[in-house]
Amino acid sequence: MEKVRVNLGSRSYEICIGSGILPEFSHYIRAICSEGTKIGIITNPVIERLYGREIYHDLDAAAYKPFIIKIPAGERYKTLRSAQKIYDFLLQKRFERSSHIIALGGGVIGDLAGFVAATYLRGIPYIQIPTSLVAQVDSSVGGKTGVNHPLGKNMIGAFYQPVLVWIDVDVLDTLPKREFIAGLAEVIKYGVIGDEEFFEFLERHYEDILNRDRDCLIHIVKRSCEIKARVVSQDERERGLRAILNFGHTIGHAIETLTEYKKYKHGEAVAIGMVCAAYLSAILGLCNKEIPERIDRLCKLLRLDTTAPYMDFRRLWDVLRRDKKVLNEKVRFVLPTAIGNVVIRDNIDIQKLREAIQLCYISNKS
Ligand code: NAD
Ligand code: GLY
Repeated sequence: MEKVRVNLGSRSYEICIGSGILPEFSHYIRAICSEGTKIGIITNPVIERLYGREIYHDLDAAAYKPFIIKIPAGERYKTLRSAQKIYDFLLQKRFERSSHIIALGGGVIGDLAGFVAATYLRGIPYIQIPTSLVAQVDSSVGGKTGVNHPLGKNMIGAFYQPVLVWIDVDVLDTLPKREFIAGLAEVIKYGVIGDEEFFEFLERHYEDILNRDRDCLIHIVKRSCEIKARVVSQDERERGLRAILNFGHTIGHAIETLTEYKKYKHGEAVAIGMVCAAYLSAILGLCNKEIPERIDRLCKLLRLDTTAPYMDFRRLWDVLRRDKKVLNEKVRFVLPTAIGNVVIRDNIDIQKLREAIQLCYISNKS
């Protein structure tokens, strides 16, 4: 089993990564919670059937008091209403400060369960068992928890770190192909923001990755978690550096908003956003034009379509200015200067952005 540590003083924790390690979980947590502890496993009906029951029985056999709490699958259930249902359950079952929560699922369950853990009785410990690729390489690490509000995604939330992240890459076998590929966009992101060697690894091993080769999966999940852990350890609350994790997300979020979250998975929109941002960087003279071309090529090797959808530019600019990442009315972009290094810029000339988006259309037409 591989381990990555997130160093945050008294809030530090381990990310354990391996193949076939789910059955070991109930033994491993003895170091974290004592026998008889109530543990609420928050999940959705699909994941409950695939993995939740097994975890429930293991915990029960290990003398814990597990409960399964199911929330329907889907982004539209990442709400305060779902949180309320979970609070009701926890209160009825008399969960206490020492009780634990397990977030078992993709990023939706992880964010929701983490938010409940952060707020129930002013905070109880929680463990992430991420089951989607997005959750394994991104959302389960770093403590961003939250729910959506009708006026915006992830608008209500808290920074609240888990006590453990337990990642079994074998669960990715059942993840639908489209979800798996969307998750690869976040993996590419880590190569661009922090590690050229890792980017090269992805270029060389794209076929093994697409075939979900075990060793390859362990490597890409581990390296992604290491890079995220390094960033989060330095800037837990996104005062500065952590914003680099948003590479590709400025345009990506705008694309999701303009297409009403119907056409694209988050990672699919991020892939387009990464290529746009890289073209913008080249136009601004921050990198040469081989950088966007190389990112584009890797996205395509990993089956991510980077064709930007048609967008009315004024509407796009409007959406960008309303984004949560806007600072003092300025739209902030994370721009690569090389593979493995990025800078943050927030004084982007609107015409240059228009040019970058044009280049995205053109490169996909030729
Ligand atoms: P998701 O949680 O909706 O999962 C995608 C789908 O895959 C769901 O239908 C889920 O049931 C299914 N699924 C998950 N694991 C499976 C498995 N092993 N086998 C079969 N089916 C499986 O979506 P996601 O892409 O995992 O996460 C997206 C969410 O994460 C968004 O809400 C986003 O805001 C959030 N997010 C948060 C952070 C953070 O730092 N907190 C970072 C990135 C994304
Ligand atoms: N997903 C971006 C972050 O955790 O900061």
